[in-house]
Amino acid sequence: MSVLIRNGRIVTAADDYRADVFVDGETVALIGRGLAVDADRIIDAAGRLVLPGGVDPHTHMEMPFGGTESSDTFETGTRAAAFGGTTTIVDFAIQSRGASTLAGLETWHAKAAGQAAIDYAFHMIVTDLPDRRVPELRRLADEGVTSYKLFMAYPGALLSDDATIFRAMRKAGEDGTLVCMHAENGVVIDELVKAALAAGHVEPKYHALTRPTRLEAEGAHRALAIAEIARAPVYIVHLSCHDALTELRRAQARGVMAHAETCPQYLLLDLEAYDEPGFGGAKYVMTPPLREKWNQDELWRGLRGKALDVISTDHCPFCLREQKELGRGDFSRIPNGGPGVEHRMSLIFHHGVNAGRIDLNRFVDLTSTTPARIFGMFPRKGTIAVGSDADIVIFDPEREVTISSNDPRTHHMNVDYSAYEGFRVRGYPETVLSRGRVVVDNGEYVGRRGDGRFIRRGPYGGAHAPLAAARGQAVDPGSGRPGAGGG
Ligand code: URP
Ligand code: ZN
Ligand code: ZN
Repeated sequence: MSVLIRNGRIVTAADDYRADVFVDGETVALIGRGLAVDADRIIDAAGRLVLPGGVDPHTHMEMPFGGTESSDTFETGTRAAAFGGTTTIVDFAIQSRGASTLAGLETWHAKAAGQAAIDYAFHMIVTDLPDRRVPELRRLADEGVTSYKLFMAYPGALLSDDATIFRAMRKAGEDGTLVCMHAENGVVIDELVKAALAAGHVEPKYHALTRPTRLEAEGAHRALAIAEIARAPVYIVHLSCHDALTELRRAQARGVMAHAETCPQYLLLDLEAYDEPGFGGAKYVMTPPLREKWNQDELWRGLRGKALDVISTDHCPFCLREQKELGRGDFSRIPNGGPGVEHRMSLIFHHGVNAGRIDLNRFVDLTSTTPARIFGMFPRKGTIAVGSDADIVIFDPEREVTISSNDPRTHHMNVDYSAYEGFRVRGYPETVLSRGRVVVDNGEYVGRRGDGRFIRRGPYGGAHAPLAAARGQAVDPGSGRPGAGGG
């Protein structure tokens, strides 16, 4: 199958020009003006943007959590992602405590194989890393799993102590892999939660009130300091607030190889959402929680100034009926997480590019190129270039859409609400190609379950100079002066 995309405006993280793109099979074969080639299909992209497919490096499909399982399967979640212009996800496999990480990987392969509409990769959530298991991290890397998530939250379930975090980071530093940190002081948070419940505070908003920004910042500070001593890069996931951003900036300024992502919910929603009538606030029970609104400007500033590298979704949906309900009468039992994989591109295009907060190249960089690069998939993913996978979004910058879970044109996630209900956006994907196959054609799904493939990722930063090295060298933990590190 070959496809010729004509007359579009190609935008990558670095470029912005008009040309045709010829896709032969799964990859981009030619880019040029007025290409005179035969193709099985011709798409006229006049007036449209031609963008690299979105890379969402933080999703949780069918993840067991809080006594239930996130409601999108690899089938439904990746189809929704495709509708929204995302063509690669990096999901999280989980190590069961006491079991091998490789067994966890096998379990997640079994969930995803033959199900996904778009390509997918895995991080590994490490819950337990005694010395004898440390070599497994290298074996995971050989399997194409080159990043691990560790939690400072959820004591008794997912939390890793500092020794475990240090062990994992030191190994990652040696192997050229990457530790992703859920940075929050979960031990202190648990005390606040107990006190709130004892005082009779059971409503969803206490989820946010018991997780203050200082405790996210404390986790970030600790993760960054441990990474510095381990001489390893670190990636802070779902950074939500100015307090944590300040810690990130300080660490970057002293040369720590520190990356971080934020998510649309922290840029566009705020603490007041928990005041939705009835049990509506439960929709926004996610970790970290939504913050006071003023944090949003600071996060946009962080994205513009490149302290923050990536916008992911942390897509982890639970239905309001039946699943979030588990926590009616006790906010600590509300499953943590919210939906978002379908709308990241349009929300960020509208509130970022249309609003003048970031330019088009930075939009592509944050939603596609840099996540592909950090997580070892660039330039196969994350750009439009000869030889790259033909993951391409033909994006109509003028199309206006109101997002609603009641509108089958804008809601394909398997969840009974939208966190962005009633949000009006200008700019929406029209046609989406995943490795050369049209999967969304003028807003209609034409893809196939199982066509998405597992992507074996390369080392941190890919074959290219790690971004962090450009910020400065790693600090020598002995002298405290810049060392030979940096990548
Ligand atoms: O509330 C959230 N974020 N749920 C997903 C798990 C995680 O911590 O990323
Ligand atoms: Zn997390
Ligand atoms: Zn997550």
